[in-house]
Amino acid sequence: MKGIILAAGKGTRLYPITQVISKPLLPIYDKPMIYYPLSALLLAGVTDILIIVAPDSIDSYKALLGDGSEIGARLEYAIQPVARGIADAFIIGEDFIGDDSVCLVLGDNIFCGQNLGSILQRANGKSGATIFGYRVNDPREFGVVEFDKKKKVISLEEKPKEPKSPYAVPGIYFYDNRVVEIAKNLKPSKRGELEITDINKKYLELGELSVQLFGRGITWFDTGSPDGLLAATQFISKKQTKDGRYIACIEEIAWQKGLISTEKLKRTGKRLSPTAYGKYLSSLT
Ligand code: G1P
Repeated sequence: MKGIILAAGKGTRLYPITQVISKPLLPIYDKPMIYYPLSALLLAGVTDILIIVAPDSIDSYKALLGDGSEIGARLEYAIQPVARGIADAFIIGEDFIGDDSVCLVLGDNIFCGQNLGSILQRANGKSGATIFGYRVNDPREFGVVEFDKKKKVISLEEKPKEPKSPYAVPGIYFYDNRVVEIAKNLKPSKRGELEITDINKKYLELGELSVQLFGRGITWFDTGSPDGLLAATQFISKKQTKDGRYIACIEEIAWQKGLISTEKLKRTGKRLSPTAYGKYLSSLT
């Protein structure tokens, strides 16, 4: 399975913060936001990853993450010249995806919690599409999934004014290879975007959509607004300080998964050693 991180959005809801910096490069507590979606892919067992960025930020992403060898992954970069919507990622990524299945994560989505790795690994390799549902107080800003009493999906809607359920669809999606053709045949929505929800609706129509609910053990943040940014930062800071274990520490995950050697982990720890992050890496071995 291939992975795509879409990090190309303009982040207009965060202006002026994101006027000259790409949103997924902003800090969430002690690390760049993109570490979180990247860690979700690593936990899902995906190491062949395309990062889609806006034209003016590609150099920053390359400087930060390079070719991925620091975390035992293979990273490629592509540009989304015009923000045409989330589903455009599969058109831009067509050659990269090749004949494989693909997991897409949005660059501003943060996932953490118990068994996240095994939940995501179960979705990796299934046929059709697997997406998730997460209960929220106000789902109007999200894709929303409606179930019948037997938890069978009845409908999907993008940012409905009157949501039919409290279940938002978080920004991590697993698809088989058909997603590329489905994306190519989409028509832009009223807001002029190729909608990820329209892809999910197509899989629903085909009878090939599986929606799994994230339970209370999983925490999800969409960091598209100043309050979302702050909430995520506070949560990560409190959790890491209390537990003494880091969330989305990509080098730790890579090392635990055997993707990098202890030597490499030690080298990165040393390089970052003046910081708590570097000291944490050094403390692992
Ligand atoms: C996008 C998707 C929406 C999804 C959300 C998750 O919305 O269109 O379906 O629920 O991401 O973060 P956006 O945040 O781009 O407005």
